[in-house]
Amino acid sequence: MGSHYAPEPWRIKVVEPVRLPTRDERLTALRAAGYNTSLLRSADVFIDLYTDSGTNAMSDRQWSDMMIGDEAYAGSRSFYRLEAAVQRYYSYPHVIPTHQGRGAENIISRILIRPGSHIPGNMYFTTTRTHQELNGGTFHDIIIDQAHDTADEHPFKGNVDLTKLSTLIRTVGAENIPYVSLAATVNMAGGQPISLANLTEVRELTAKHRIPIILDAARAVENAWFIQQREPGYANHSIAQILADMCARTDGACMSAKKDSFANIGGWLAVRDPDLAETARNLVVIYEGLHTYGGMAGRDMEAVARGIEESVQQDNIRARIQQVAHLGNRLIAAGVPLMRPIGGHAVCIDAAATLEHIPRDQYPAQTLAAAIYLDSATRTAERGAVSAGRDPETGKDRCPELELVRLTIPRRVYTQSHLDFVADSIINVYKTRDTITTGLAFTHEPPVLRFFQGRFTPVSATTEPETGNNCPTTDPDESVMTEDEQPRSNPTTEDQLS
Ligand code: F0G
Repeated sequence: MGSHYAPEPWRIKVVEPVRLPTRDERLTALRAAGYNTSLLRSADVFIDLYTDSGTNAMSDRQWSDMMIGDEAYAGSRSFYRLEAAVQRYYSYPHVIPTHQGRGAENIISRILIRPGSHIPGNMYFTTTRTHQELNGGTFHDIIIDQAHDTADEHPFKGNVDLTKLSTLIRTVGAENIPYVSLAATVNMAGGQPISLANLTEVRELTAKHRIPIILDAARAVENAWFIQQREPGYANHSIAQILADMCARTDGACMSAKKDSFANIGGWLAVRDPDLAETARNLVVIYEGLHTYGGMAGRDMEAVARGIEESVQQDNIRARIQQVAHLGNRLIAAGVPLMRPIGGHAVCIDAAATLEHIPRDQYPAQTLAAAIYLDSATRTAERGAVSAGRDPETGKDRCPELELVRLTIPRRVYTQSHLDFVADSIINVYKTRDTITTGLAFTHEPPVLRFFQGRFTPVSATTEPETGNNCPTTDPDESVMTEDEQPRSNPTTEDQLS
């Protein structure tokens, strides 16, 4: 009973075999994937920390509810169950189902954004910003400065900087801001939460200007946990109460049910305004499916509805966050530079600090993710310059301050020993980081969301940077390894780790 790592509130009923590929197999797989972990085949991965999206283990209750899914095209009973669960826990009256989060983002962006619109948000998210831009909008990051500093221990690094928000309102005019896009937690900052106090202040400011707030609720339950643990006055509030308090300060939400709700697929858009809901229902028929299934099977809606109920249970959310913290704390103890404090869904390695000798325009995070895969067949995700993409106006790389490798933990999937294996591998790669002397360059770069399907090749750190790239380059004089110093058989990322 004295353990500080409390046992998970579940036991395992079904298992899925996984296999650790050999070093040769890993090298072959990495080359075939163009050094992009997004393009690896799952069969070549041992521990998959690419994402927590749709990769969760469902409960026996969720699986049994899937059996009673109502597959009617119109008016499915399963939709009404889902609608009731969203209304009850997220408090929005109108619920429009979508196949996943980006389906909801597409609908809300098409309705509210016009060419010339400005959308402020607490850091960008890839798909969210892409939909805003496809509709002619410009995204503005209004998160507090501390969010861009990996070492800062601010307990609510997802908070909005109210000065940045009011300056933007003054500069572009409230009439050109269709809504404020607020994420809870903030994925690209490593799962950092926003406080209820800050959300309340944002609400007060936007209300004065009649600007609505649309919440990205994908991980709002995880955000609620941090409020309960860290924000004065909430220690005795239930997760469900805090979640409702958060939603009460917003006008609608986009939801990827593949995160907090433990589902493998699904999502929804929910709003308070009945006219907006009607417009959304008209659009969902075009892009997703009828407004009583929105791209989900009836059984998926059952799984999401049950998942919502499970997600707000104290034991479930405690076990989830505790597991992420366990991995993070092991890495911190070994000196690996991480995004601090440890976030809700992921541990993020500061790749720029780890591979200081790889120039930013040769993508240190992409390089580190490749190196980690080669070491242990652990799949991680790049969350840096590659994910940030190019500025649509200048065509240059947007170079975010955060250059992270994300170790994203699926819910209820891996054991503590899996995560200890991952920690050992990361620590090994960290300790031998000086042997990684080559970065990566694109050989194929898709125009949108390039991190998913882009392909790369190793390049020496002294190679000329690609044109159109805006990330700071390394001064050749400061290059860690000069031409002369390089061993004759200069190891490349691919073979030095083989
Ligand atoms: N918003 C946030 C904060 C997300 O993390 C995601 C997806 C979405 C929206 C889009 O939802 O995938 O259901 O269409 N994030 C995944 C990730 C892909 O790996 O972070 P979706």
